[in-house]
Amino acid sequence: MAEKKKRDHFGSKIGIIAAAVGSAVGLGNIYRFPCMAGENGGGAFLIVYLGIVLALGLPMMVSEFMIGRRAQKNPVGAFKALAPDAKGWALIGYTGVLCGFLILAFYTTVAGWTLESVYKSVINYYHGKDLATIEQGFNDSINMIFRPLLWQAVFIFISAFVIAKGISKGIEKYSKILMPTLTVILIILCVKSLMLPGAFEGLKFFFKPDFSKIDDQVLISALGQAFFSMSLGMGALITYGSYISKKDNLVTTSLMVGLSDTFVAILAGIIIFPAAFSFGIQPEAGPSLAFNTLPMLFNQMKGGYFFCLLFFILLVIAAWTSALSLLEVIVSYMIEELKLSRRKATIYSSVGAFIISILATMSLHNGSSLTVFGLTIFDGLDKITSMVFMTLGGLFTVIFLGWKVKKQDFENEFTNGGTVNMRLRKIFYYIIKFIAPAAITVIMVSQFII
Ligand code: PHE
Repeated sequence: MAEKKKRDHFGSKIGIIAAAVGSAVGLGNIYRFPCMAGENGGGAFLIVYLGIVLALGLPMMVSEFMIGRRAQKNPVGAFKALAPDAKGWALIGYTGVLCGFLILAFYTTVAGWTLESVYKSVINYYHGKDLATIEQGFNDSINMIFRPLLWQAVFIFISAFVIAKGISKGIEKYSKILMPTLTVILIILCVKSLMLPGAFEGLKFFFKPDFSKIDDQVLISALGQAFFSMSLGMGALITYGSYISKKDNLVTTSLMVGLSDTFVAILAGIIIFPAAFSFGIQPEAGPSLAFNTLPMLFNQMKGGYFFCLLFFILLVIAAWTSALSLLEVIVSYMIEELKLSRRKATIYSSVGAFIISILATMSLHNGSSLTVFGLTIFDGLDKITSMVFMTLGGLFTVIFLGWKVKKQDFENEFTNGGTVNMRLRKIFYYIIKFIAPAAITVIMVSQFII
């Protein structure tokens, strides 16, 4: 028998919430969510997104926490431990680890842009510039060879540094104060954005659903975005679940995490769309939405220099805490299954992710031939991870929990041994066993039929 080592645990309930919110809130909320909403009809996307978060995202989050806490293991080890007679289920864990690498690869590219924006804020680059110049500057910096890679390397390095130090000493300490600060800044920005001329059009775009726009593309994009934003379907929350105390109520924890994540995404929408409409940036503009609209907004504000700098620093930190959870999936797997030291596991995983991220970044250069199926490697990684890996991962995770784990164990874990959530347990079981798998399957299959 393998010897039982004492697992590192989150020091407190607030620690796990902070760490899980840290994982969930990141570039997915402030960069990716507006891109997706902008491409998929604004209000129509928002309403589908909210429906998916409530009906699928939250139950999924509880499920991943349950699996992790029950098994006390990394995602691969967790499926093996809970289904010792059917080791094939561990494939969900392996694809999660792979997915972690792939997400990190394009995530660090975007984190690199964020660091570049911090740099530009420091040197007061944005001051007094018009939109065309700021956009040109953004495109130019994407097309540079070494600078983006340097930022990425910095980002990976600071992430690896915390991961190497271990769970409670690392992640918890950094997440607790910084996420609330980010939220306060976002609220100030909302007010500013709503005061711009023409802001109302943007607000209408974001909140007024045009139901005729809801199609298979909107559904799968919203599903992918919900999973991406809530860090679901690839083992991050299984890993964090394994560090949660047996006494914590997984339902209330998930509610706090899921709702905070959604709140931040909505705030981002309320800032970005009114400002984008006011400045004449198209909602389909992609990265420009966050990286060019916001500097324009700061330019209009008193104390813009300070807010711009603070905002981009906090965005780096939000990205950082998310990257930590991605790395932790890979690292905990390498430590427990491959028996590597934490230090070695951290070095292998961060260097591996960095190498793939070089390809993602280079694929965005003008005229680059680094494409797959007509998409740049960057876009390909972004699409395949959220729309395929995470949705399939989520699907099989709920199937596993609903059909493979014993009902007795399921209820035990969900109710902390019969002490909490007693009334919810039947309906929750039903959702996990039937509704969630059916809903995810329908959304995935609809793409091929329509
Ligand atoms: N949820 C993070 C974000 O919104 C990204 C992420 C995905 C983190 C999957 C961990 C796992 O930025």
